[in-house]
Amino acid sequence: MKRYITARRGSTRGAARMTAKTTPADVSVPPRDIHFDVAAAGSGHWLGGDPVGTAVFNAMSLTFPDGERMFIDAVRHYRGEVGGKLAEDVKGFIAQEAIHSREHHQLNQLIDRTRYLVGEIEAAIRERIAFSRSRGPMRMLIATIALEHFTAMMAEAHARHRNLFENVDPGIERMWRWHAVEETEHKAIAYDVFMHATRNWAPWKRYFRRTLAMALITYFFTRNITHYAARLLEADGYSYKDAAKAVKTYVWRTPGLFSRNAKTYFAWYRPGFHPWDQDNRALVAEWKAEFDADIAAPATA
Ligand SMILES: [Fe+2]
Ligand SMILES: [Fe+2]
Repeated sequence: MKRYITARRGSTRGAARMTAKTTPADVSVPPRDIHFDVAAAGSGHWLGGDPVGTAVFNAMSLTFPDGERMFIDAVRHYRGEVGGKLAEDVKGFIAQEAIHSREHHQLNQLIDRTRYLVGEIEAAIRERIAFSRSRGPMRMLIATIALEHFTAMMAEAHARHRNLFENVDPGIERMWRWHAVEETEHKAIAYDVFMHATRNWAPWKRYFRRTLAMALITYFFTRNITHYAARLLEADGYSYKDAAKAVKTYVWRTPGLFSRNAKTYFAWYRPGFHPWDQDNRALVAEWKAEFDADIAAPATA
């Protein structure tokens, strides 16, 4: 069922006619300014006592504050070019990512820095992001749409396989769940901005740039997360080789955080792809209602 707003652009000659897909009109991107109690992150293996899973999610959390700030700046650069609902959604996207950044920073600060090499990992992340930023706003935006596809895919994996966060401290579990809801909600905002900003590009050029970016980002993002998580695990007594092996098993096989939603991932390579080709709102509807209730009654949040 097509729920997109459609618009015709350019030439009216049959094949040259284009249909622009966007975020559905009834999807909004409200910031939910919730402070989570993530104190349990200071007491070690918060992911159900599993050192490997904890290291993987801590590694991802460490990338979020600087990464999400880059997403914000990438989208902000093109903000003046968009109007209507997309302008509103961009505002929501920026606010949501800023709050994610704040909450993950909070969690990251609680990881035991005397035991784990958090500073080294943060420095490596800063360096990678500085490189992305140095490539200019369009490359930043393209990196953002690719990484947003990745985060939306992981959010979907989380929503589909709810045992992933079994036996996790409730404050931390809620934080990751809230993040998953908002990543689903805003999964196409940066993409919509990209489609608008490149509206005068030839379709093949847009396709080439976004698929090349996805191939590169898939390689670097998965490699870096594996490396960071393995470095964290070394502090738990693993050799680097064993740590890397355990992390690879976790992300590619069981539970397969990166591989579980292969179908969603590969949809990106389809010409004419849009993140809302797959409408997965129902998957997070219950979680969304819970966090909507939190912002409606902030005193109980
Ligand atoms: Fe986020
Ligand atoms: Fe995001």
